[in-house]
Amino acid sequence: MGLTSQLTAQNKLVVNADPVKTTISRHIYGHFSEHLGHCIYGGYWVGEDSPVPNTRGIRNDVVKALKEIQIPNLRWPGGCFADEYHWMDGIGPRAQRPKMVNTHWGGVVEDNSFGTHEFLDLCEQLGCEPYISGNLGSGSVEEMSKWVEYITFDGESPMANLRRQNGRNEPWKVKFWGVGNESWGCGGNMTPDHYADLYRRYATYCRNYGDNRLYKIACGANEADYNWTETVMKNVGGRMQGLSLHYYTIPTGNWGNKGSATRFDESEYFNTLARTLFMEELLTKHSTIMDRYDPQKRIGLITDEWGIWTNVEPGTNPGFLYQQNTLRDAILAAVNLNIFNAHADRVKMANIAQTVNVLQALILTENEKMLLTPTYWVYHLYKVHQDATLLPLSLACNKYELNGKQLDAISASASKDNSGKIHITLVNIDPNKTQQIETELRGTTATKVSGKILTAGKINDYNSFDNPNTVEVTDFKGAKLSGGKLNIALPAKSVVLIEIE
Ligand code: AHR
Repeated sequence: MGLTSQLTAQNKLVVNADPVKTTISRHIYGHFSEHLGHCIYGGYWVGEDSPVPNTRGIRNDVVKALKEIQIPNLRWPGGCFADEYHWMDGIGPRAQRPKMVNTHWGGVVEDNSFGTHEFLDLCEQLGCEPYISGNLGSGSVEEMSKWVEYITFDGESPMANLRRQNGRNEPWKVKFWGVGNESWGCGGNMTPDHYADLYRRYATYCRNYGDNRLYKIACGANEADYNWTETVMKNVGGRMQGLSLHYYTIPTGNWGNKGSATRFDESEYFNTLARTLFMEELLTKHSTIMDRYDPQKRIGLITDEWGIWTNVEPGTNPGFLYQQNTLRDAILAAVNLNIFNAHADRVKMANIAQTVNVLQALILTENEKMLLTPTYWVYHLYKVHQDATLLPLSLACNKYELNGKQLDAISASASKDNSGKIHITLVNIDPNKTQQIETELRGTTATKVSGKILTAGKINDYNSFDNPNTVEVTDFKGAKLSGGKLNIALPAKSVVLIEIE
């Protein structure tokens, strides 16, 4: 009898602590930051002369907060911006760097004061891996090739010498390298066949210098464009190490009026969760195509843009994509991270859009002030899964029902870390009912359990500069061990982390 069929109707969770050997890559907990609105400028970069405490121009408070969640990687400089970015404009003395117009994002002046050196300094301060998105849309093969050489070559060469002239002797190590972004849209409106040919050409000249090994990531599909995945897998295959996927959750499903970040009713909440759960189907179907061409799963599926995208906050620049962040967004993030974990055999990286002040941000800043959003606290809870071993689980759960439609009320994920501790992350998406869960832990004897919970009074509660702790993590006392079973009372609209020793 299979695991699922042994379960009866009500909220039963079986966690198998004898794991199959799938590691949850820490890079699933990755980030994305673009030259867009106040993500880079104001969000990270304030300049050396700013009254905001900084290290070489980079905000100390933001670095500290992101180190706290063990940020594993940061994707930059875009997004759509990447395919208009010419990296040579962003090196050398800042006062002499040319200015450009940021056509995608508000038509504002980009003064290039944050460029390659500043980004790689940021990554060093964060202790995370850089993920650089190269310009295939409007840049040349030579330009991309020289960027790799500038950053990673140790010997005598025009680009390595230029880097030294600009103050950096040692090359940096850069592994993750994107070859174009959204080449089906803002990155050049290409067909998959045309893109695959261009990828092969550009990627040829992105060299591995010394012991630096690039992990080249090809532009992948927009949402359910399975033909894109099929064509790139067929025509590029092992020439890439990763293939991306972009999927944003639009609360209303209407790009023209996406819905407010903070003012929504339960029906819109339900629809938002239903839309975000589509990620499961997307990963399954794209993975199935990849499996046909790459049964050994050598090529990673890289979900390098995902998250909730709402209308901007009233009165803010529509091109800056500034939105608040509620308990709904935390629940959405937690559900997606559980889904990525479940697909960890194929999904090797995911990058929520866009870390600071843009879209589903973890951090909002206002001059010298900074606040941590509910989504930030999900990453704080979930950092225990980074590089842990995935534990297979089986869940039979109640439904969250509204207006004749239903969704599974509970989402779960489990892993075992290096020290042998088991962590289960649980989400109760039902905003009205507590869920009682009887959990069986197979292959382990639990003696100690503790927990943390993220919840709030309302699904649209959020943290503001006046009230920064409305949605926060507290201790969770609703998990009890009894007769070898773990009984959990999972409160409505909550994200819970359980630690078992
Ligand atoms: O994250 C905002 C934008 O969404 C990115 O620039 C682009 O890649 C995507 O369309």
